[in-house]
Amino acid sequence: MQNTLVLKVCEDKIQHDMPAISHAGELLKAGGLVAFPTETVYGLGADALSADAAAKIYAAKGRPSDNPLIVHICCFEDMRAIVEEVPRQARMLADAFWPGPLTMILQKSAKVPYETTGGLDTVAVRMPANKIALALIREGGGYIAAPSANTSGRPSPTTAGHVYEDLNGKIPLILDGGEVGIGIESTIIDLTEQVPVILRPGFITMQMLSEVIGEVRIDPGILTDDANCKPKAPGMKYRHYAPKAEMIIVEGIQELVVKKINQLAKEQTGAGKKVGIIGTTETAGQYRQGVVFRIGSRQEEAEIAHNLYKILRTLDASGVDIIYSESFETPRIGQAIMNRLLKAAGHQVIQVR
Ligand code: TXA
Ligand code: MG
Repeated sequence: MQNTLVLKVCEDKIQHDMPAISHAGELLKAGGLVAFPTETVYGLGADALSADAAAKIYAAKGRPSDNPLIVHICCFEDMRAIVEEVPRQARMLADAFWPGPLTMILQKSAKVPYETTGGLDTVAVRMPANKIALALIREGGGYIAAPSANTSGRPSPTTAGHVYEDLNGKIPLILDGGEVGIGIESTIIDLTEQVPVILRPGFITMQMLSEVIGEVRIDPGILTDDANCKPKAPGMKYRHYAPKAEMIIVEGIQELVVKKINQLAKEQTGAGKKVGIIGTTETAGQYRQGVVFRIGSRQEEAEIAHNLYKILRTLDASGVDIIYSESFETPRIGQAIMNRLLKAAGHQVIQVR
């Protein structure tokens, strides 16, 4: 056990907070771990070019070692050293979306150890849109491997407090930059295929990507639990983002969904179970039983994405036995939200008509 230090850092006063960031950078260069904010979720950083440092990430998170890490960079040109070649599409996507919540998969160069890529010949690269993250990457040597800073299997952290909950005593330092903006992990696009493939949906949608590079496919493995349909991103096959309680999604017309959840919640409460419900601003007032969480308004899908992991963690802490959630097939980030929610629910869905 070691003491985990939490240092507050402010994105708007980055110059003022540079001593803390430089100290964190030194730790990274020495092969240590530092948790830090990005615009999506908190990351657990280590030197991506050091096999030993990358191995420490797997140990701290309890992460399976075949699950590759994303290498974070702070300027596009730095990509050249870690990939075999920079395709034209990578430049176009970077111009459109970097810094930002997009990760690109490319053929790796010899510089990147297999410990970082989980044994693959490809590497995931991303430039995050957070000034603390960018400064830390620069100070830490330019190539920072960073998975989400949660214990493996727990919801990704959207505050420094969440990181502390999971990793206190296991890492030396957390940079606390406040609550993140987006709240779900970056979109991952694989550029090593003939037609680029989305391996993980996120804030950058398929339509936004195809407006820049033309045809884009979506990995059929990511919205199903069909065992014959293995997702190409190794991390997507694990039961991620899982709350401790059983979770069931109820899908259909709003009115009927509310009615069904009320009925199920009543049955469970009658059987002595503690029930949690994930509803929206529009429906929360209509639930009669259980602990009700408002995830946000259906008119504001970014708000729903932003609150998702926080609510899953709060549900865990509240000790409920069973969770019923509405479904969120919203037009843009809806696919990303549902991808995370379906995993949390182990794909248990009730359709109401
Ligand atoms: O928003 C994010 O991407 C956050 C922040 C911290 O940047 N990071 C993050 O990392 O979500 P992680 O490790 O939780 O998720 C990385 C995902 C995993 O599903 C992994 O399997 C996939 O990226 N991945 C990484 N390298 C890959 C590769 N070479 N080929 C296919 N999938 C890869
Ligand atoms: Mg993760």
